[in-house]
Amino acid sequence: MNILVAYYPLGEASKIAKRFEEVFKTRNIGVDLYPICVEEKDIKKQFKTEKQLILENPIDSIKKYDLIIIGTPIISFTAVPAVNVFIRNLPTTKDKKFCLFATGIGLPGKAIKKMSSLLSMKSAKIIDTHVFSSIFEFDARKLKEVDAFFAKFEKQI
Ligand SMILES: Cc1cc2nc3c(=O)[nH]c(=O)nc-3n(C[C@H](O)[C@H](O)[C@H](O)COP(=O)(O)O)c2cc1C
Repeated sequence: MNILVAYYPLGEASKIAKRFEEVFKTRNIGVDLYPICVEEKDIKKQFKTEKQLILENPIDSIKKYDLIIIGTPIISFTAVPAVNVFIRNLPTTKDKKFCLFATGIGLPGKAIKKMSSLLSMKSAKIIDTHVFSSIFEFDARKLKEVDAFFAKFEKQI
């Protein structure tokens, strides 16, 4: 089995992605981490220029993956624009399985809904979603939530 973990590398989203990598490696599941990058690093500016954002590292094919996990930090109650651009640019997602996560301080807003609706427009199959929230830095105990999230959706892969 092969899983891609694509995430916007800001704040706690990177920690969650790395925890997924650890969990999958101990289970002998193939895993690739993919930090989503656009030239515009200023997120406030990303919101103003979403239509013009260009991925620095676009993905040619997602064929080899049985599951794609996409994660975003929550900014202003929604997903980071670069993550939306990544989703819009994904090649052929029809019937591909996805899990979504968002990280923040506890005000999820429409972050998951935004990503879900973009993926639904591409006929992708969303099997589970989770919001990781804390006003503190995510510690080892918090990261155990990743294990529990995986346990919840692994039978559907
Ligand atoms: C401008 C800005 C807006 C944010 N908006 C939200 C929000 O709407 N909901 C939420 O749960 N967290 C929000 N956060 C918190 C971030 O998602 C993140 O958890 C926090 O910035 C910690 O990451 P850091 O350690 O890199 O700063 C916001 C942070 C910033 C800087």
